[in-house]
Amino acid sequence: MSNDNEQVLNEISKKIEKIPPLPRIPQKAMQLMMKPDFNMKELSDIISQDQSLTIKILRWANSAYYGIGNPVNSIHQAVTYLGEHVIWSLLLTSAISSVMMAPLPGYDLEMGALWKHSLHTAIIARELMKTWNEKMAEEAYTGGLLCDIGKIAMDVAWQNYNEENPGQAKEDAPLDFVFVEQSLFGINHTIIGAKIAEIWGFPETLQETIRYHHTPSRSEKNPKITSAVHIADVIVNCMGIGIGIDGLQYYFEPSAMQELGLDFKDIVRFMDKIVDLLKEIELLIDFPVTTA
Ligand SMILES: [Fe+2]
Repeated sequence: MSNDNEQVLNEISKKIEKIPPLPRIPQKAMQLMMKPDFNMKELSDIISQDQSLTIKILRWANSAYYGIGNPVNSIHQAVTYLGEHVIWSLLLTSAISSVMMAPLPGYDLEMGALWKHSLHTAIIARELMKTWNEKMAEEAYTGGLLCDIGKIAMDVAWQNYNEENPGQAKEDAPLDFVFVEQSLFGINHTIIGAKIAEIWGFPETLQETIRYHHTPSRSEKNPKITSAVHIADVIVNCMGIGIGIDGLQYYFEPSAMQELGLDFKDIVRFMDKIVDLLKEIELLIDFPVTTA
């Protein structure tokens, strides 16, 4: 390892250490949900301790997107009607929004751009997964939401690199950006992202999806979820949403389509549906998601 790379890795480690822990109540609720014998009453009691989280979940539960139909007035009703997988997604969305809203100048991503990209990836991954297995849809959402979390620490490497050699990264980079990061810094945002997920105590399957979201054929524990996240990430990149210096510089693995039994005609049909879906989602979060 060169001295330069050692310095970069030290800076990335420091950045990882500075990432704030997840907010207490959503984290407590998610920790409970990782236990095999948790009960919904206990979960509702924990969520109720956070008023703004409670209001947010009730708003989501009463939205057209989740389509429950009957008015949902209590957090216990919301938890019961939406089910544990959707509640997990909502808790995670709420917990990580502030961390992921931050600007990433090294990647040339303005404030909110990573969050916007991640939300789109999550929503599209969920819908893609539904075509294969409805029960795994929320897991795909989670993977999509967190797949680029490593960029929040990797950004320091790009900031320093650009300072020393302005513009060089953009002009000289080979096609695959994971390869670029690995070659320049001895690490890449997928490895860092999996590490952050481990620090936050998230399951190994989720860590693996983050690690291989650009190379889903290497996923062993979770190939279908990882494939859905990979395809969703490519779609969002092609839509030009929340992309920075890495732009379209990632390989697409067609085997991900085979993994989910999809062909390109399916994706075209899917895209017609997704535009309306994203408009519905816009109503649920605090800023527009339907514009780049
Ligand atoms: Fe990525």
